Amino acid sequence: MDLSELTLVELGEQNLDIEFFDCGRDDINDFFRNDAKNYQDELFGKTYFFCLSNKPKRIVAAFTVANASIFTKHLPNSRRRKIGYEVHHEKGLVNYPAVLLGRLGVDKEFRGNHIGAQILEFVAGWFSSDENFSGCRHLIVDAYNEKELIEFYQKSGLELFFSTEDQELTYRNWDIEKDGPLQTRLMFRDLILLKRPSIR
Ligand SMILES: CC(C)(COP(=O)(O)OP(=O)(O)OC[C@H]1O[C@@H](n2cnc3c(N)ncnc32)[C@H](O)[C@@H]1OP(=O)(O)O)[C@@H](O)C(=O)NCCC(=O)NCCS
Repeated sequence: MDLSELTLVELGEQNLDIEFFDCGRDDINDFFRNDAKNYQDELFGKTYFFCLSNKPKRIVAAFTVANASIFTKHLPNSRRRKIGYEVHHEKGLVNYPAVLLGRLGVDKEFRGNHIGAQILEFVAGWFSSDENFSGCRHLIVDAYNEKELIEFYQKSGLELFFSTEDQELTYRNWDIEKDGPLQTRLMFRDLILLKRPSIR
């Protein structure tokens, strides 16, 4: 199934069968059903749906995007270089503009069609295009800390910020005793590679 066969709908644009949407993860279903509208009203993130063109209320996939930034000041040097690879600005930036893919879900019925991967590509293209109103160097996700999910994002060109959980615990000031195991892992994709693929 190709994304171009589906219709992109912005939250609030038309009535959709949100109650039938099931990506298999309750918290994400719950977000799209109950929280996305308020979230959008508060300007925290915008939600979009890909729907079947012949059944326009049927949601195939949903995602939420928000402006974000990568603050590099407290990153180890090696990590800072990785984020600012081939940056022409003399010393790199302290803050790199980014887009955060805050939520992503593909309905269980449509799994295995590369819809999720195509959405990652779509968002990357969207935010790095000349039509984007602001600068956006990276696509970032805060992925559930599950091996398969991390592999899913890696297949789409996202990399872990930190190669080990220990490094990430330190950077995020995460106290395992108090906060429990690290639940998510930060990942990024440098969108400059879409414009200048030859640099790597
Ligand atoms: C994760 C999710 C968005 C993936 O969407 P999808 O459309 O099913 O995935 P795709 O078909 O695009 O998968 C692309 C590749 O990743 C692999 N992949 C996808 N999900 C995977 C998983 N959970 N485990 C292992 N591999 C996975 C696919 O096999 C495919 O590999 P291939 O290119 O070698 O064929 C979807 O499974 C989902 O909605 N999950 C529940 C919600 C969720 O966890 N969201 C992410 C929160 S961080």
